[in-house]
Amino acid sequence: MSEKSFYITTPIYYVNDVPHIGHAYTTVAADTLARWHRSGGDKTWFLTGTDEHGQKIQTSAEKRGITPKELCDEVVQNFQKLWKVLNISNNDFIRTTDDRHVEFVQKAFKQLLESGDIYKGEYEGWYCVPCETYVPDAQMGEGNTCPDCRRPLVRMKEETYFFKQSKYAEKLLKYYEENPDAIMPKSRYNEVISYIKSGLRDQSISRTTLKWGIPVPGDDKHVIYVWFDALLNYVSALSSGENSEELKKYWQTAHHLVGKDIIRFHCVIWPAVLMALGIEPPKRVFAHGWWTVDGAKMSKSVGNVVDPFEMVDVYGVDSFRYFLLRQVPFGLDGDFAEAAMVQHINSDLANDFGNLLSRSTQMLVKYREGRLPHDAAQTDLDKEIQSMAEETLVKAEELMGRFAFDDTLKTIWAFISRCNKYIDETEPWKLGKEGNVERLDSVLRTLWEALRLTAILIAPFMPYAAEKTYAQLGLSGSLFDGARSEWKWGGDFDVTVTKGEILFPRIDVEKWAEERKIRDAARLVKQNPLAARDYGKHEEETTIESFSGQELRVAVVEKVEPAQNSDKLYLISIDLGYEKRTIVSGIRKFFKPEDLIGKKIVVLCNLKPAKIRGNESNGMLLAASTVKEEQLTLLTVMDDTIPAGTRIG
Ligand code: MSP
Repeated sequence: MSEKSFYITTPIYYVNDVPHIGHAYTTVAADTLARWHRSGGDKTWFLTGTDEHGQKIQTSAEKRGITPKELCDEVVQNFQKLWKVLNISNNDFIRTTDDRHVEFVQKAFKQLLESGDIYKGEYEGWYCVPCETYVPDAQMGEGNTCPDCRRPLVRMKEETYFFKQSKYAEKLLKYYEENPDAIMPKSRYNEVISYIKSGLRDQSISRTTLKWGIPVPGDDKHVIYVWFDALLNYVSALSSGENSEELKKYWQTAHHLVGKDIIRFHCVIWPAVLMALGIEPPKRVFAHGWWTVDGAKMSKSVGNVVDPFEMVDVYGVDSFRYFLLRQVPFGLDGDFAEAAMVQHINSDLANDFGNLLSRSTQMLVKYREGRLPHDAAQTDLDKEIQSMAEETLVKAEELMGRFAFDDTLKTIWAFISRCNKYIDETEPWKLGKEGNVERLDSVLRTLWEALRLTAILIAPFMPYAAEKTYAQLGLSGSLFDGARSEWKWGGDFDVTVTKGEILFPRIDVEKWAEERKIRDAARLVKQNPLAARDYGKHEEETTIESFSGQELRVAVVEKVEPAQNSDKLYLISIDLGYEKRTIVSGIRKFFKPEDLIGKKIVVLCNLKPAKIRGNESNGMLLAASTVKEEQLTLLTVMDDTIPAGTRIG
């Protein structure tokens, strides 16, 4: 196979995570490239899948009392469902628990063991026992602590298998020097080169602390390190099954799309392992940037993790795909703001594209009963539109060759705008009134041709909208399978144009803003119930003076008794140092008396005394609780030696 084939992959995703826009982004980009190449007539293979081994899966499965494989079988469906919803056209879906993959990884391991590129040695380093991971010296926290859980690290030594990565440093540098496009964008290329130049160490590629992984062949004490296992998916998927001889040929045109955070795995370890196995490195690794959400880092605790299912539900799959690829140059970081998406939908899709399609089809139906005019003579203006169509195609080809999705879309939209202007210039409604049949024919034919090309060009980005456009133009047949490479202006078409549904209805911004508030609140409750209490019920701004008016003090709990006439209340006797008093509080279901006695808590002291179920309460203790009070904890002080009665504020 020559360059007329194209192999595109996404990273294989960890199944324990819920799919978010990061996952959707790479997969939509890969899908668009796959569809683009199919429409350009290339033999195309598109692979995605899931990374299923490792500690996290093992631990979650143990907690639920099921096997890791059972857990994977369940959660893998989240991804498979999402790819259906996003209209992803992958040819294969690989799971690292597939037999075909496990066998391949063990075979590769054995081969490298025999060739001496894998050897048994001893690994020594700082280890976090609860996280079950080695922490590199440079990442250790103060006083030799774990950067994740902050607990003290221990010095550990264990037997491990190493991959001789150091041996490949020179070869890798030479390879990248000769293939400067093998890592894109350029900034990532430079990052990888300087990393390799700073010196490569041999990589530990087995673990004895973990069970859920592929066993090292002949040494069951060890399982193979997840990254060594995972990276091999790109080749294992081509190397099994009946048509593997055919599939293996795709490797020569392998393109990996990855996020910038996993570039070293893909551009250092991976090609080195391939070289050791006697396989060519991939043709290109392209690293895209990361999304923030409305300017903030995406995180569950903030409750702003974008759920792609929700986006498709609210905006439609094509609009979501369009926005992901139009908003940010591929390779750079970007911000995901729904407000920006609404703006793009209303202006680019509903207005520019929607108007061109509906105005054109409407006129073809009105003036020609949907029949496509033939043999229409072209004026210079019509020829200008034809030339622009042809140039747009050439430019788009070049831009997509560099994975410049955003510029490709801008180029297509410049053509769409030009066509809208062409309608204003030619004023077909006047031609209709005047009965200028010949001129009207050529204008309508020009618009139809322009739309036919537009449908072909946008199909990889927005397959459903393109199909519907095609249908409105009276065309049938695939928008892929060489549709673009076979395209040329004009031709003999026997079609009937219809005026179909509006493809991208305008979004009413005011209504949208109202609905958005409700969605945001619901999302926060789902992602972080702890933070969600009273969400959206923000208080008025306050001042230091009014805050200082609240007399908060440290108090020691002396006695806790159930209230006589209630099963929810406690009578809590507290000592404020200068006086003792009793507070009535409804926290009985959360604590036993002995949980509280002796604790230093925080009390609002100048609260007006109140009678609660006949018991006088003198103050209020401060607690944090979740939305429906499923969970509740009391505020305490960090330093227990601070005396009772100390003022807070
Ligand atoms: N399992 C490994 C990949 C192995 S490939 C042989 C892995 N999995 S992952 O599920 O964590 O992958 C996530 C992918 O999503 C990465 O490419 C990562 O860059 C991407 N993203 C995660 N958060 C992201 C954003 N906020 N924005 C864009 N992409 C992000 O890594």
